[in-house]
Amino acid sequence: MDPIDSPDPQSFYQYSLKGRLVMARKKTETQSKKEPAVKKTAAAAEEAPAEVKAAVKAAEPAEAAVEAAEPAEPAAPAKKKAPAAKKTAAKKAPAAKKTPAKKAAAKKSAPAEEAPAEAAAPEAPAVENSSAVEEVPTMQAIVPQPRRSVAFIGSECHPFVKTGGLGDVMYALPRVLASLNCDVRVILPRYACIPKKYQDLMVYRGEFYMDLGRTGRSYYVGIMEYVCDGVVYDFIDNEEFFSSGNPYVSLVDDIPKYCFFSKAALAALNYLDWIPDIVHCHDWQAALVPVYLRTLFQDTPVGRARSVLTIHNLRFQGIYNIPTIKYWSGLPDSVFNMGALKVGHEDANMLKGGLAYADRITTVSGTYAQEIQTSEYGETLENHLRYHSGKLRGIVNGIDYGMWNPKTDAAVAVHYDASDAIGKKRENKLALQEELGLVKDEGKFVIGLISRLTNQKGLDLVNAIVPQMMDGNTQIVVLGTGDRQYEDTFRYYEGAYSGMFSACIQYDEARAHRIYAAADALLVPSRFEPCGLTQLNAMHYGTLPIVRETGGLKDTVQPYNVFTGEGNGFTFDRYDAGLLLDAVNRAKTLYFTERERWDEVVLRDMAKDVSWENSAKQYRDLYLELTQW
Ligand code: ADP
Ligand code: GLC
Repeated sequence: MDPIDSPDPQSFYQYSLKGRLVMARKKTETQSKKEPAVKKTAAAAEEAPAEVKAAVKAAEPAEAAVEAAEPAEPAAPAKKKAPAAKKTAAKKAPAAKKTPAKKAAAKKSAPAEEAPAEAAAPEAPAVENSSAVEEVPTMQAIVPQPRRSVAFIGSECHPFVKTGGLGDVMYALPRVLASLNCDVRVILPRYACIPKKYQDLMVYRGEFYMDLGRTGRSYYVGIMEYVCDGVVYDFIDNEEFFSSGNPYVSLVDDIPKYCFFSKAALAALNYLDWIPDIVHCHDWQAALVPVYLRTLFQDTPVGRARSVLTIHNLRFQGIYNIPTIKYWSGLPDSVFNMGALKVGHEDANMLKGGLAYADRITTVSGTYAQEIQTSEYGETLENHLRYHSGKLRGIVNGIDYGMWNPKTDAAVAVHYDASDAIGKKRENKLALQEELGLVKDEGKFVIGLISRLTNQKGLDLVNAIVPQMMDGNTQIVVLGTGDRQYEDTFRYYEGAYSGMFSACIQYDEARAHRIYAAADALLVPSRFEPCGLTQLNAMHYGTLPIVRETGGLKDTVQPYNVFTGEGNGFTFDRYDAGLLLDAVNRAKTLYFTERERWDEVVLRDMAKDVSWENSAKQYRDLYLELTQW
């Protein structure tokens, strides 16, 4: 079965990638293919020091989480199989172990490929006077930008593993950067939950052993590689850390996991002899990378790289008590101060440390970059962020037009583009109503909600106004998983408004696409939203967003103006259920009383540029700015 038909959350699929995967496989077949070496490290043998175990216990966040984590008690890693690497940074394997592919890759990354700017400069047309300036193409347009190599390091990436927008960004941005003359490698954990079809495409690139923190042990680090569309994906393999079904389990497990991952990612770059100009890390899971870079790895080859840390969601920071983070990270005492990792009296905050050590900080919209410097949105890091505001900037996310295209989308019932969207969206609506057991009526106003069901997403507001929204002419379709209370409430509404309310409590990528194509409007009333991608997907599919004016929602959705007819969607400002209801009612009024004007907005939204084009250039320029050598 094509995974696109499958509701299995782990069945990720690709549209445009399908053909390319085959190509990639052909390419990699020429490389020496070893069986994926998932080395089972021997059974647990060494225990963490007693005080660290006590610290882990003391800081256990919630009983349920701890219970789940207990069997995988992190202080009991496997005994090393190979002699322990004495150096902190990974030792390279003996030269004989190098595969030919590895040598080629090392050559490819040589900085000699950069186009010397001075050499090209004389060819640029001279700008004689100011009136000519506008007609003359800019130097940037004429002179090819120098090539830069970038290692993306993060915890998820579509189509391998995705729980939210981070996975989309880790997929889309490297591909656009590759087209902008960047040499991009994406480093990810090789989770056991990555679908087999991708596991099968990975090629063994090598392995080494690495010490970790104060565990006194040496850990296996395997590197499995997959190349696609000019982007190299390197998966860090270690069964002990990455064998759970979901990337995120509980902090007790995740702290050691991402200490290991961050260190192993840098060690792998040294091992591969691929030294990037920029290391671009994402969220708290990779936030120790800039700290490692300036401490344990400073005097290793990768130490020359500059670092960028992107905040996708400030709510998650990786906080635990200092002894535990010291134990797993092995970072020197000097980083556990108030200017870097330390928070409060006894905790360490991995994201805070990364923000202190990164050469640049970005977040995923301009408004969120401002908001996080305030106490309302700063998640207790507002002072730290204000202190580092000189190196902070907001670059809004885009969406991948290959993955999100109603004209070619393999998941939707009926394809369409701007030329036939109005009629074809109605057909998609009927198909979705059929699929979900809703009353089949193209005249109903269908509101979609596709979201992680968490406190961030404004679901309290939605729940408060469902009865008022259900006026007999409105249908609501919810797709999401998350907190039990929200799941249960939506299930309740499905029962209460049978045939008019559908609660799909699941993660289903294909169904998400069908909802974007079929719905008239999409709700995104978030409490906070660093960027938000669902409103971008929706607009691109001609579905009008109803959003709260916060973060990236504010930056990407211009409110509809009844007087001028301008705008892309319906917005409200304060976090207030009444204001959300008002925005929904404004949308309904336009839909039911002035359909032609509604349809104009549909077409305008489909034409709106929500691609990565412009934002990827901003990242590329940031990399260039950081590497002016
Ligand atoms: P966040 O990263 O905070 O979850 P975003 O709006 O940035 O929010 O990204 C969410 C991404 O996850 C979008 O691509 C959206 O379509 C997808 N998504 C969210 N929930 C589901 C779900 N239940 N099934 C399928 N896709 C989902
Ligand atoms: C986060 C944010 C979301 C953003 C996504 C990708 O999960 O919650 O707003 O779009 O990351 O950057």
